[in-house]
Amino acid sequence: MANVVVIGSQWGDEGKGKIVDWLSERADVVVRFQGGHNAGHTLVIDGVSYKLSLLPSGVVRPGKLAIIGNGVVLDPHALVAEIDRLAGQGVEVTPRSLRIAENVSLILSLHRELDAFRESSNAGTRIGTTKRGIGPAYEDKVGRRAIRLMDLADLSTLKDKIERLLAHHNPLRRGLGVAEVDPAAIYEELASVADKVLPYMDIVWRILDGARREGKRILFEGAQGALLDIDHGTYPFVTSSNTVAGQAATGAGVGPGTLDYVLGITKAYTTRVGEGPFPTEQQNAVGDFLGTRGHEFGTVTGRKRRCGWFDAVLVRQTVRTGGINGIALTKLDVLDGLEEIKICVGYRLDGREIDYLPAAQAAQARVEPIYQTVEGWRETTAGARSWADLPAQAIKYVRLVEELIGAPVALLSTSPERDDTILVEDPFQD
Ligand code: IMP
Repeated sequence: MANVVVIGSQWGDEGKGKIVDWLSERADVVVRFQGGHNAGHTLVIDGVSYKLSLLPSGVVRPGKLAIIGNGVVLDPHALVAEIDRLAGQGVEVTPRSLRIAENVSLILSLHRELDAFRESSNAGTRIGTTKRGIGPAYEDKVGRRAIRLMDLADLSTLKDKIERLLAHHNPLRRGLGVAEVDPAAIYEELASVADKVLPYMDIVWRILDGARREGKRILFEGAQGALLDIDHGTYPFVTSSNTVAGQAATGAGVGPGTLDYVLGITKAYTTRVGEGPFPTEQQNAVGDFLGTRGHEFGTVTGRKRRCGWFDAVLVRQTVRTGGINGIALTKLDVLDGLEEIKICVGYRLDGREIDYLPAAQAAQARVEPIYQTVEGWRETTAGARSWADLPAQAIKYVRLVEELIGAPVALLSTSPERDDTILVEDPFQD
């Protein structure tokens, strides 16, 4: 039985929500393995729109087990708010449908404050984060001073853990000129939510091992995209977790052999939010066209996304670093009506042609795209459910993308509606 990992192959916002929902119908278990509520997935089911940030997309489908793995950073108050919001839409999340790893690290208010402070300072350190406290929470995890979910189950030891955490944070805050944190306030912040989140706590690696042995289908749901990976992305303009498929194993507690198929969600053009290099960015009428047509505004922060042409160099690279077996190509219809379409096929760097994105920050800022221009199509591709519904030029574009990135299109999504999908290869197939 195949297990599938879904990751974004660009800078996030590739349309993972719809594909994960579509795949979750075939899965028994859906697992988040990195990131936190910086993610924003919109699912449209029977015309009803659900916005998820922290919860695995499978949570809206009855009978599926949703899991938040240890690789996630969890804001317990945001979790409760999201569960309440879904309840208001008639979706009940219970400890039977959601399990959370006991060793997941928590995001606290002090992480959010530090994130926001750094982003608002003029020190030239702006990353354009979502200000959810993601980076500072991962710093504390790696710094071995994080408060983890299991710590809420033993309030007698929590005070010591908070002291240990504040021994780092308060001197830092003093140095930054920010008011120190009172340990009692953090204790209260955590104690007040403990009863609401502890019922979901479990030994996730064991549940997943059992599911695997029983031949259940597991879907690993990535957030953000491979170019925001802390190691393989456009550092330092990245998120603070590994977003490539390898992280699905460590972030959930399964061996790498459990990951059978990696599906890279890939938008037919490119977007990014926040700061950082973006070689094919179009700060012109083309960018405006893509942004307006594609409704390119952030699900979490509402920020306008930067837009540009498809960059085959970047996706070819993330096919390699992300271990992508096939892609789901999304938002092809946004290109409908363009007379010509450009695809970046290489870069020029200091007079030299290269076929990869260099790792150095300065070089990433300097690369100039080399474009191949192809003819567009007049007809609409929106809502197509078979290849026969697509104009010949659109099929040519898809074939060129496949050839340039070195991975096949397994799924083609032609509208936000889940049924408007062309299935070429079922990632769950044995
Ligand atoms: P952080 O994850 O909030 O620390 O933000 C770091 C970078 O990742 C910023 O450029 C964010 O805009 C970007 N980012 C974080 N989450 C998402 C997402 O779900 N989609 C797209 N970009 C994201």
